[in-house]
Amino acid sequence: MDAIRIHGGVPLKGEIPISGAKNAALPLMAACLLTDEPLVLSNVPALADIKTMSALLQQHGAEISRSDDGHTLNLHVGAITSTEAPYDLVRKMRASVLVLGPLVAREGVARVSLPGGCAIGTRPVDLHLKALSALGAEIEMANGYVEARIPAGQKRLKGAHFTFPMVTVGGTENVLMAAALAEGETVIENAAREPEIADLAECLIAMGAGITGLGSGTLKVQGVESLHGAHHSVVPDRIETGTYAVAAAITRGKLKLTNTRVDLLDSVIDAMRQTGVEVRSDETSITVTASDRLAGVDVMTEPYPGFPTDMQAQWMALMTTADGAAMVTETIFENRFMHVPELGRFGADVNVHGASAIVRGKVDLTGAPVMATDLRASVSLVLTGLAAAGETTVNRVYHLDRGYERLEEKLAACGARIERIKGV
Ligand code: EPZ
Repeated sequence: MDAIRIHGGVPLKGEIPISGAKNAALPLMAACLLTDEPLVLSNVPALADIKTMSALLQQHGAEISRSDDGHTLNLHVGAITSTEAPYDLVRKMRASVLVLGPLVAREGVARVSLPGGCAIGTRPVDLHLKALSALGAEIEMANGYVEARIPAGQKRLKGAHFTFPMVTVGGTENVLMAAALAEGETVIENAAREPEIADLAECLIAMGAGITGLGSGTLKVQGVESLHGAHHSVVPDRIETGTYAVAAAITRGKLKLTNTRVDLLDSVIDAMRQTGVEVRSDETSITVTASDRLAGVDVMTEPYPGFPTDMQAQWMALMTTADGAAMVTETIFENRFMHVPELGRFGADVNVHGASAIVRGKVDLTGAPVMATDLRASVSLVLTGLAAAGETTVNRVYHLDRGYERLEEKLAACGARIERIKGV
């Protein structure tokens, strides 16, 4: 397994191009199951999770070709050859469950392995299933699989009014895709408002679906009998953008982040400005400049437009270098503080009380061997390593490869002393 070695303490300076969003690309790829015509996606990040989703779609019958640079995918499902998403693929990546809605809507039946818990929490899919059953799908669970089918004698799912009891990104995406092919109107209340949902809705509209309410908590979908092919460019990755904004701040450097959109991460930029970091932006770029002293700023994770849970670990890393104390509260996942003991290995002073962590900043961080159990926790350790004196080795790099395209290359181009060590 590869590791990343960092010699910290260099203020980063330069430009980093932001990739397309992993969490938008995955549901967009699943949307190819809704039509027998080609769906072309550009600005797709080259990541391990994208390969896993490709493998899953291929076994459902997708023919997939990639452009030479790997960033444009042509996905074509002339016919669905299998309606089953097997355990071996679903356990690798929870987002595999996003094939459930499209498969049942187009083919009338789907059998998908239950994803099970993961490092950051139990993460059930009960609300995905409730929403699909509101559209008339019959749901059964057996042998670790969930089977959804359109009732006998019925050709399509039926539009319905469904209110999510809590905000779920994946649940909203699954029902949105299913509703696009259902008969009549579906109203989804308390829908997730994450930019990745609006991106999916825009693609579905380009494929012929009728959807209104984009960006709001109420989505109205006019179902159609069939969807057609389309070309869609994936929205920039707001979490990658935020992560590199923290890289600039934590190393007290200056980075210009290009190919991105500042409006996707208002809450992170607000918090950043409160620390004293200067953030300037234009239509497609953000420039982050940090001076020596930063103030501690409390954040609480919330559904969009609140502070994203996917930036919580990175924020905590930044707060270890700020003056005074900062409270970081996690409200989305019940077990998303696994980076705390690892941050302690750098000398950070963090105390967890239930869903909140108090970070007492401005300690002298020193490099250390560390390892994390999920993507964002891993990248928070890279960020801390960039700020810490001496050598840091981040193990289990495969987590990073799931969500950050060419991480070492992008950071090294801005002066970071960072390298990948193969097969440690
Ligand atoms: C998406 O996960 C993202 N993944 C996550 O990013 C992100 O952390 C999360 O949204 C929250 O923003 C992708 O988009 C592929 P949820 P998702 O359904 O859809 C509970 C990363 O690092 N819940 O919004 O799985 C659930 O347990 C990843 O890139 C139910 O109880 O998240 C959680 O506590 C990690 N029942 C909360 O809702 C359900 O049926 C929010 O989960 C569904 C969810």
